[in-house]
Amino acid sequence: MKIVITAGPTREHIDPVRFISNRSTGKMGFAIAASAIAHGHQVTLIAGPVSLATPEGALRIDVISALDMLDAVRCELPSADVLIMSAAVADWRPKEASTTKLKKSTMAPTIELLPNPDILLTLKPSKENRLFVGFAAETGDPLAEAKRKLTAKGLDMMVANDVSRPDAGFAVDTNLVTLLYPNAPAEHLPLLDKRQVADEIITRIEKLHNELNIMISSSSSRNPCNASNLTARLS
Ligand code: CTP
Repeated sequence: MKIVITAGPTREHIDPVRFISNRSTGKMGFAIAASAIAHGHQVTLIAGPVSLATPEGALRIDVISALDMLDAVRCELPSADVLIMSAAVADWRPKEASTTKLKKSTMAPTIELLPNPDILLTLKPSKENRLFVGFAAETGDPLAEAKRKLTAKGLDMMVANDVSRPDAGFAVDTNLVTLLYPNAPAEHLPLLDKRQVADEIITRIEKLHNELNIMISSSSSRNPCNASNLTARLS
């Protein structure tokens, strides 16, 4: 499979030295990229500003803002089988970004924000037979929110994690996740290293992809326009 993975935060610049961002370090997304490569898949890693080495064999595209990330995903999607959005995309950006450093004496005390596009929702119309996987980083009860986002964003799998735990979520090497699907029971994984979580995610994606291929090939064999059916009818 060709798998496009987004990772890390996005930065929304206020001026050349200040920005709005979040605590994501990219560790989970980079672990997924390394796992996918180890499983023999082709990987494009679209990374926000992070300080991690590129997993050997991945094609890496560096981006800064949510709008840059949307452009990069849009470019890579047509050739992809799977999109994994593990990036923590900033939901808002300053309405105006100054090209020169704002002096505090002249800086307004409020920053006007605009909503960023939701990358998964924006690209949902182009999903076709691709698998879309999301991450829900939540505080409190992650499952209810993750399920809502799974449905709203039309995903095949949602990885829910509670980022308020010290041993899960941002910046640590372990994660505690629940995998949610539209038509199958949730799977609660134990606390694992992010690389082990990544291996579990890639294995599930391979299974979903195989199931999808079986469905596509059985529906195309029923398609009256299918080339082999046409030959059979002509002969
Ligand atoms: N996501 C996205 N585009 C955005 C924001 C989020 O594609 N502008 C993706 C994330 O990469 C993740 C999923 O949507 O896979 C859920 O992201 P999350 O931040 O948990 O949820 P939001 O949709 O941003 O909702 P909220 O901030 O209200 O929790």
